[in-house]
Parts: sequence; structure tokens; C-alpha cells
Amino acid sequence: MIEDAVLDAAERYAQKFFAQDASGHDWHHTMRVRRTAERIAVEEGADVSVVALAALLHDVDDAKLSPETSGDLGNARSFLAEQGVGGEERDAVLTAIREVSFSKNGAAKPSTLESACVRDADRLDAIGAIGVARAFAFGGVHGRALHDPSGADKTATTDHFHEKLFKLKDLMCTGAGRRIAAHRDTVTREFLDEFLREWDGNA
Ligand code: ADP
Ligand code: NI
Repeated sequence: MIEDAVLDAAERYAQKFFAQDASGHDWHHTMRVRRTAERIAVEEGADVSVVALAALLHDVDDAKLSPETSGDLGNARSFLAEQGVGGEERDAVLTAIREVSFSKNGAAKPSTLESACVRDADRLDAIGAIGVARAFAFGGVHGRALHDPSGADKTATTDHFHEKLFKLKDLMCTGAGRRIAAHRDTVTREFLDEFLREWDGNA
């Protein structure tokens, strides 16, 4: 059982770590992933404290934000060592962090239930109302068009819906994740349908 004091310290650590970031990989993303991951963990009967800690640390070794530690999860490892989290609990947390990444793992199955809970929660934050908001925030930070009706500009934010967001529902690893994703996927698709109707002057 990982103590609440460790989870509180992880929350402060993540808040400090993401203080500078505006691209959607922020502290609030981390907190949402924690809440959703815990909800999934309870429903699935996973170890909730391992899931909570892994969720809090899941992006602190992200390749975009900390390229020098992304290979060995150096930031998470140092944090766990400082907090005295060792043995099976440390390994369980590190496994869940390692297996969360979309780019590194794609459709490969998570090796533990805790890992599956964190991965589903991270992917769920990319769809639904929040996911739509994050996609356009990402597009803004990277100077991308909202939409390109010609389809030539493959970097418009609406292209990302097809490239990634609509695929996430089928990549869920838990029953609870699939149920939440089904709802958020509907919200995402309805948003894009309305967006395109308005774009064409039909709504
Ligand atoms: P992950 O943490 O799975 O590696 P990313 O870093 O790819 O996720 O994405 C973080 C957020 O930014 C997500 O909400 C994602 O949908 C969004 N995002 C990533 N790439 C794009 C893009 N090309 N256009 C719009 N949004 C994007
Ligand atoms: Ni994340």
C-alpha cells in the first residue's frame, strides 16, 4: 500500500514539473488522468494506490518534455527512491508509466491491470469535450489550421481527429475504459459533425 503522503508529494512534484507547459501536457491533465484512472481501478479491482502514483508520474519522463530521462524513466525513478518506494510497488509503478505511451506502445497490450487503467485514463483525456479542447490547444501552440477543406494540409487539427482520436475507443484495455470511451467518442464525433456543418454554412 503506497501511503497518501507519497501521493501528495507526487502531486506537488508533478505540479512543479509542469509549471511551464501550455501544450496540453500539463498538471491538470495529470490530475484528470489520476481521477479517471482511479475510477477505472476501483471498477476493475486494480491496486488503486499503484494506479494513482503511476498516473501522477506518467508524463514526467515524456520524451518531448524530458528527452534525457525518457529512456530510463529517470525522473520517476529518482522520485520513487526519494520517497522510499521500492520493491514490487516501485516495479509496478514503473511498468505502468512505461506502458502508457501511445507512441511507444501503440496497440501492444499492457502487461498488468494497473498499467491498463493508467493507459486507458491517459487516452480517455484525448477524447470527449476535454480531448477536443486539448486538440485545438495543441494546434494553437503549434500554429496549425483549425481545418483544411481541401484535405491537402495533413496537419490541420481536424485531421488529427481521424488520425488518432477516432481510433482511441477501440484501443481501450479495460471494460470501464471501453464504457467511458464509447460516450466520449460519441461526443467527439458529434462535435466534428457540427463543426463541419457550421464550416459549410449549414448549421
Ligand atoms: P501522448 O501523451 O499519448 O503521447 P500526445 O503528446 O501525442 O499524447 O498528445 C497530447 C495531446 O495533444 C492529446 O490531447 C492529443 O490529442 C493532442 N495532439 C497531439 N498531436 C496533435 C495534433 N497533431 N493535432 C492536434 N492535437 C494533437
Ligand atoms: Ni498523459
